[in-house]
Amino acid sequence: MGALRLSVAFEGGGVKLSVSIEPELQCFCLEHEWRVRVEGPGGVLQEWGWRAKAGEGGYRGSSIQWNPPLKGEYRVSAELVTHSLRAEACFRWGNPRVGILLYSETGVTRALVSKLASELEANGLAVDVFEVSLKRKYRRPLHLNPRLVLDTFRGSAEVEIPEKFNPCLYSALVFACPIWIGRPAAPMASTLKRLSGRCPGKPTACITTSLAKVDYSPRLAALAEAAGFKVVFHANAPRGILSCKLEEIVKVLTRA
Ligand SMILES: Cc1cc2nc3c(=O)[nH]c(=O)nc-3n(C[C@H](O)[C@H](O)[C@H](O)COP(=O)(O)O)c2cc1C
Repeated sequence: MGALRLSVAFEGGGVKLSVSIEPELQCFCLEHEWRVRVEGPGGVLQEWGWRAKAGEGGYRGSSIQWNPPLKGEYRVSAELVTHSLRAEACFRWGNPRVGILLYSETGVTRALVSKLASELEANGLAVDVFEVSLKRKYRRPLHLNPRLVLDTFRGSAEVEIPEKFNPCLYSALVFACPIWIGRPAAPMASTLKRLSGRCPGKPTACITTSLAKVDYSPRLAALAEAAGFKVVFHANAPRGILSCKLEEIVKVLTRA
């Protein structure tokens, strides 16, 4: 048996990886086992494997649509395990991808993040927005809720971080949350503790929202730094309005 064909095409906002046996080659195996792996910035990012019987789809190869998460160089290796045949291909991916993780109790931070995400996308960055949620919501009135106050002073809360949020898959991150009693809201403080050490040095922007015109953002930045992230920008938005222009954040995150 001869070689494999492996090609990479830029399609649908991502890449299409196509692997196949040379068309002129005949094979009499009853089943084929395939593996495709993508290595990129930071190591192996994705692997696929499948088995297909003769005559089934996937027996002579397959096409995979995939969205590279980071800008940089990628190496794709495909293997027809049954015949110990391998093929490799390389490609470069240019668009930085930003992962935004927010917590919002009354919607102000969420609205600000939505504007920021649109601005980032308008500037050619790919953006994924994720939201931290509480396992048990705080009862109103929030200011008089003893659990909220205790959680805020402790900087801990029982939170659910979306499983799909993998900070290592992004070229830059944004953490955004409201300020409670002068501190980053407990659900975000808790989230940062949970993410501690996951991707040391990842360029990160920290945005806080508040009622008062006080720059609270260094407090969120300090928590992010303590968790190992590299804070490249931070700002507070009183009533959800940033004093700096959104383009400023876009510039910083594009360089990241
Ligand atoms: C319990 C609680 C404590 C707050 N403490 C402060 C504070 O110390 N300083 C301040 O400027 N705003 C404070 N706020 C106001 C919020 O930070 C502000 O309304 C924020 O934008 C709400 O964001 P969200 O709608 O995303 O939850 C507090 C709000 C709550 C509910």
